[in-house]
Amino acid sequence: MKLKLAATLACAVLSLPTFAQEVTYRNQVKPMIQKLCAECHGDDAPTLAEFKLAEEKYKKEKLGPRTSTYENLLQIIAYTDTGALMRRLDDGTNTSDKKPGNMYKYLGETDAERAANLVMLKSWVGEGAWNLNRWTARGDVPGVTKEQLEKLKLKY
Ligand code: HEC
Repeated sequence: MKLKLAATLACAVLSLPTFAQEVTYRNQVKPMIQKLCAECHGDDAPTLAEFKLAEEKYKKEKLGPRTSTYENLLQIIAYTDTGALMRRLDDGTNTSDKKPGNMYKYLGETDAERAANLVMLKSWVGEGAWNLNRWTARGDVPGVTKEQLEKLKLKY
């Protein structure tokens, strides 16, 4: 009887939608970004530094900062635009106005796909590392703490 219960529990745990294997940039994140974001954040998009110099011009061209390499992506997660990816892709759980970030709609074609991609990205960023804070506080957005930065995983 005890054994049967243990087996049932083990099955329940195994069927949870968690990531048994660690999420990596190469295996999950890169293909997702290529599919859903490359149209406006691809190799022809400006680097973050270039984007910041001429934001209005690029916005008119419907281009955001390049996210097509691991290094490009790290800049909008860790530094220099700390938390930008999280602020734009949050589903409203962590935003002050409880509305999803303005890039959340691109995270998939259906609610289910968007939710699944968000779970995957959160797992990649690192447990407890998904926060919307900036490098230095601005308005009602606090500055990121060393403890929060230490939680970043971002496995390549
Ligand atoms: C149809 C074009 C388009 C698509 C598709 C798109 N974006 Fe964007 N994105 C933009 C534009 C234009 C901006 C700059 C304007 C703004 O800040 O809203 C931007 C800004 C951003 C920013 C803010 C960067 C910063 O440092 O200020 C992030 C992060 C971002 N996008 C992530 C994504 C991700 C991730 C995807 C895919 C899931 C995606 N975007 C899909 C057009 C797009």
